Amino acid sequence: MSRQHVEHRDIARFADERVNLKREDATELRAQANRLRDRLESYLGEHPDFELRRMLLAGSLAKGTALKSISDIDVACYVSSESAPQAIGDLIEWLAKRLEKAFPNFSPQQIQRKTYSVSVHFVGTGNEVDIVPILYSGDPQWRGSLISQETGEPLITSVPMHLDFIRQRKNANPQDFAQLVRLIKFWVNLRKQEDDGFRFKSFMIELIVAHLADQGLALKDYPEAMQIFFTFLAKDGLNSIIAFSDYYPPRQCPTSNAAVRIWDPVNCENNVGKLYNADNRARIVDAALDAGDAIDSALHAVTKGETIRYWQKVLGPTFDI
Ligand SMILES: Nc1ncnc2c1ncn2[C@@H]1O[C@H](COP(=O)(O)OP(=O)(O)OP(=O)(O)O)[C@@H](O)[C@H]1O
Ligand SMILES: [Mg+2]
Repeated sequence: MSRQHVEHRDIARFADERVNLKREDATELRAQANRLRDRLESYLGEHPDFELRRMLLAGSLAKGTALKSISDIDVACYVSSESAPQAIGDLIEWLAKRLEKAFPNFSPQQIQRKTYSVSVHFVGTGNEVDIVPILYSGDPQWRGSLISQETGEPLITSVPMHLDFIRQRKNANPQDFAQLVRLIKFWVNLRKQEDDGFRFKSFMIELIVAHLADQGLALKDYPEAMQIFFTFLAKDGLNSIIAFSDYYPPRQCPTSNAAVRIWDPVNCENNVGKLYNADNRARIVDAALDAGDAIDSALHAVTKGETIRYWQKVLGPTFDI
């Protein structure tokens, strides 16, 4: 591949400057979530029967895959399933009331009921912590019913096991696993801006990158790794079943004729791509084809200007070197 004008380190530098959440910002956001967790723990010390059992940083901040454009801090809150109401509206109201009790310093306006979560707004920093309930009945691996932020339905899964799963992929490819994920998420955000019907969930991207890395995709060279990621989507059409053997043998997964089949690494009954229909899939595949072509053209372009223009098709108008 011709690397005369744009090479790995140019993509890495762009990622550092424009794509990634800065380390110090991530540290501050994590600290905010951890202060909430610590306060809940001290409340639990005095009220051991309280129905909120544990708070855990979840989502991209916990996984180290957050973008600069991060909008809120995801926190999972384990709630005792015997006491919590099952109906989603009641559950959110119930959770908000318990949070008001455990955090009496917050004014009522700071604790806001959303459709499937409760958000806590910090006045000092302007940060928003999104608290997602998990109905929990004592599993030692912290499996529970996570309330889907897309549909409100309970999904049996384990956030700590997801964090472990991602940690192992990061250990196998330090820096590069998380960086490739962030570059692809950045690409997704650009596609969403130009196509209202485009969706591609971050967790799905992580699982696809994990799938390719597990099969031996080298992530060290970002132009090449991105090219291989897009080529995989374009060639496979997102038709293959993606499953992992970390926590169960993949042959246990049920047969399914869903358009996208990416099984939750901790629960082979939970298809992370369940909400994606053939149209959603086709848009992803088309966009991946375009991105793959653009990288190909960039790698064969003669002039620097031309090379940059092709990369801008993938990484947007702010891409420069
Ligand atoms: N369908 C699902 N099944 C199981 N777990 C899920 C599902 N959706 C989300 N999760 C859990 O929630 C976490 C956060 O999900 P998601 O990938 O949507 O957001 P994120 O990593 O915070 O990315 P973003 O930067 O887009 O906010 C996942 O790591 C996973 O633990
Ligand atoms: Mg998130």
